[in-house]
Amino acid sequence: MIVKVNTAYVVDNLIKDHDVILGSLKVLYRVINSDNPDARDLELLIQFFDSFIDKCHHAKEEYILFPTLNLRLFPFEGSPVYVMVTEHGIARYLIRMSEELLRMWVDNKDEGARQALIDHLRLLADHLTQHIKKENDVLFPGSLALDTLDSSRTVEDIERETNHEEWITKINELRKKYRVE
Ligand SMILES: [Fe+2]
Ligand SMILES: [Fe+2]
Repeated sequence: MIVKVNTAYVVDNLIKDHDVILGSLKVLYRVINSDNPDARDLELLIQFFDSFIDKCHHAKEEYILFPTLNLRLFPFEGSPVYVMVTEHGIARYLIRMSEELLRMWVDNKDEGARQALIDHLRLLADHLTQHIKKENDVLFPGSLALDTLDSSRTVEDIERETNHEEWITKINELRKKYRVE
């Protein structure tokens, strides 16, 4: 069933996610810039990127916010939403690539994979940073032209399915460990 969802509420929720994600990227930069990156912390960060960013945050954008923008503000082709979902696809690929490289490094003791993993995680972090900036500065303020969105899902539905709160706790623990403000 399609229900009406308040746009300002959704945008506020997504901006709070962006703060959590930017915090996790600060941790990631600390880990990959260290002389001896901790494989278990990298594994936890990659799981967070898959669960919190791809399956939760990008799903909330793609199910709840973007469809109404396409139907009521601008057609899909060449639109800002087209750019955003293309970038979600790039992020998803870099996360999967990182999962594979982590396994090559940790399970197969492939030291070449370690450097490739760090390089791909740096690409992912830079990519997500510029993606979030575009949403915060352009797409989200523009979307407030609509008071409500039509969606079959709520923010709470998707957060429940993807353990949203547990992931915030885990990232906060990592932030403490790496002294990220
Ligand atoms: Fe996005
Ligand atoms: Fe976002």
